[in-house]
Amino acid sequence: MTDFKGADILSTKSFSKSDIEKIVEVADEFLPYAKKEKSSELLKGQVLASLFYEPSTRTRLSFETAMERLGGNVITVTGTESSSLAKGETLSDTARVIENFADVMVVRHNKPGSVDEMGRAANVPVINAGDGEGEHPTQALLDIFTMIKERGELEGLTVAMVGDLKYGRTVHSLSYLLAHFGVKLILVSPDQLKMPGEVTDYLKEKGIEFEETEDMEEALKHAEVCYMTRVQKERFDDPAEYEKFKNFYVLTKEGIEKHNAKMTIMHPLPRVGEISLNVDDLPGAAYFRQVQNGVAVRMALLALVLGKV
Ligand code: NCD
Repeated sequence: MTDFKGADILSTKSFSKSDIEKIVEVADEFLPYAKKEKSSELLKGQVLASLFYEPSTRTRLSFETAMERLGGNVITVTGTESSSLAKGETLSDTARVIENFADVMVVRHNKPGSVDEMGRAANVPVINAGDGEGEHPTQALLDIFTMIKERGELEGLTVAMVGDLKYGRTVHSLSYLLAHFGVKLILVSPDQLKMPGEVTDYLKEKGIEFEETEDMEEALKHAEVCYMTRVQKERFDDPAEYEKFKNFYVLTKEGIEKHNAKMTIMHPLPRVGEISLNVDDLPGAAYFRQVQNGVAVRMALLALVLGKV
């Protein structure tokens, strides 16, 4: 990528190590603005179209906050019912319409590849905020940023990713990013919810050491970072299948203290039972800090693609 100005952010697979380092560096500069310690008008006069055709709280508000706190404006569409997609408009046409109103678009949609389609059609930068079970690049960037903040550096870390690795788009994007650093991955899931071959093939190609297991307990003995995920209910055709897996892994305070009380615990949120509430008391519980870091990372991405930094 190298030059971010005007670029789409669709998949982390296309990122180089220096792209990632650049985003982390700029996000660090924006942290005081995300923390509300400083204010800025850097993006004054710029308009973000925030198009969320799938449910979202964090990602949408995080992007909108990032834009507003840098002096920019936001126009928004949530849900398909209230949009022209409900009338049968194609995503490409929607993109070509909205580029007339906005300088940048952030899009979430339930179909993998759909945001790429809008990216190809639009003449303004398009940022993928989650395309079905595909990818969620901005979440993964804030996850990387958080790992660096919490652990100092990525090189040498052992990271366990636990839960629904099949449908969880955040772990797909995160794996592509971590593959640029000397990490070891422990991929913990039931056999039916394993990491897709496309992702493990990439890890092999990059020479990243990883193992796949069902055993969370064993993984906790070795991991310095434990990244929990929600079983993605909305991706299951059969509700009985979801019921079978929804409580497969529950991370407890006792479980963490037994192995490594200083472990960093992350989660993209929302959690629906896979992290016990008493884990929140542990110093390594980083999931709410991830949220704040997310604003800084999104400020950085908006400023970069708009050519303002
Ligand atoms: C994630 C998502 O939407 O993929 N949420 C988020 O953006 N923070 C994770 C999830 O919904 O489980």
